[in-house]
Amino acid sequence: MKVLYASSEAFPFAMSGGLADVAGSLPKALRRRMVGARVVMPLYSCISDELKAKMVFIKSITVSVAWRRQYCGIFEAKENGITYYLIDNQYYFKRDNIYGYYDDAERFAFFARAVLDIIPHIDFKPDIIHCNDWQTALTPVFLDLFYRGEEPYKNIKTVMTIHNIQYQGLYGSELLGDVLGIPDDRAGVIMYDNCVNFLKGGLQSANRITTVSPTYAREILDPWFSHGLDRILFDLKDKLSGILNGIDYDVYNPETDKNIAANYSAETVELKGKNKEALQREVGLPVRDDVPLIGIVSRLVGHKGFDLVKCVFSEFLQSDVQVVILGSGEYEFESFFHDAAQKHPKKVALRLAFDPSLARKIYAGADIFLMPSKSEPCGLAQMIALRYGTIPLVRKTGGLNDTIFDSGDGIGNGFTFNDYNAHDMLDALYRAVKGYSNKEGWNILVKRAMECDNSWAKSASEYIRLYKEILNNG
Ligand code: GLC
Repeated sequence: MKVLYASSEAFPFAMSGGLADVAGSLPKALRRRMVGARVVMPLYSCISDELKAKMVFIKSITVSVAWRRQYCGIFEAKENGITYYLIDNQYYFKRDNIYGYYDDAERFAFFARAVLDIIPHIDFKPDIIHCNDWQTALTPVFLDLFYRGEEPYKNIKTVMTIHNIQYQGLYGSELLGDVLGIPDDRAGVIMYDNCVNFLKGGLQSANRITTVSPTYAREILDPWFSHGLDRILFDLKDKLSGILNGIDYDVYNPETDKNIAANYSAETVELKGKNKEALQREVGLPVRDDVPLIGIVSRLVGHKGFDLVKCVFSEFLQSDVQVVILGSGEYEFESFFHDAAQKHPKKVALRLAFDPSLARKIYAGADIFLMPSKSEPCGLAQMIALRYGTIPLVRKTGGLNDTIFDSGDGIGNGFTFNDYNAHDMLDALYRAVKGYSNKEGWNILVKRAMECDNSWAKSASEYIRLYKEILNNG
């Protein structure tokens, strides 16, 4: 079985969020299980020179973007045993960032079409093309409209994975002919609520739809979570399922992580304290081992639940606690945390950045990891926190609901609250702080957290089962 994994970002080449982690680790896990998996992504200019130097040019072809005929260079690179195809076109991808341009629709229409056009020119004939989020959602649409019936496309099946339903690729209908090249009589596949909706097109055309946790698969049938797509998903629900993401246990491993002050395992968990000390020193908080240190590593945006934090933060800071925040995002939250850090320098430390190395130091050095998301398709940070023995405090939604269980019953691995309510979160925080004060009980909880298995093993097998089912039954 051969799977071509199409993604707009993938670790270690280009990253803006969790999708890059998944695209960097699921193919590896598939390959370990003898599935031929390769990745295709754009060749952005922001990819490091070191990685660029390892790329080999295969050939150049021409890709249609409606009436345009665009250059498409195909490069190949091998990383961690996985073959990556990088799609070159400097007009589209020589930019400072991955997303956020006036012509993103055209850039990713080009990419989605290139995914199909390169197939006759590479030594890999996929049985399945696995697409991710709106940036690759046009691949199944184009496959159906323009390539069906032709070799080598005849039997190719598609999977469309939703990593976050909030981002759909919504544009005006003038794009139909000029950018997508879709004739009016076929417009129905991509139109939704009078807009061009890339994701809706992908959902409708793909053989199967998955999302990144079982709970989120249920939640997106509800208008509160679906950002308008519940009606279409309800009609397509027979081909929808949720498969929980894993994390890469080679990359996130406190025993070998070179970013942290002291390596440790569940057996040597007392060494975790050295990381706490190093973290407190690095971010300028008083070095104390008796105070619970709460870590936040997140984009600072509304759906991550920061309005709840904002609401009760000063009340919470009356307790003897420390909070370290790493992330960047909306001005409202950046300025709120900035002010809090100025006002309480002994309790709050803020780094407004995307800093993977400091993130690891927080996963290793904090005691409690706060993730009160309003919605969370899967969430990787809570799983990384568990692996580093930092106890997650989460709202029960999406993948957080599937991975974190309240320790109140003596068997869980974290602290949870259900309703999107600031005082429910505060209550859970107080419970966590109280739990922390009982050293013996806390150490048991830390060990239990570290022993949870969120590696790709189980989820990769579920994807393989799904691929096989599609190949057998269509
Ligand atoms: C998106 C989601 C996040 C998920 C990640 C990887 O970033 O918001 O919950 O873990 O994709 O699937």
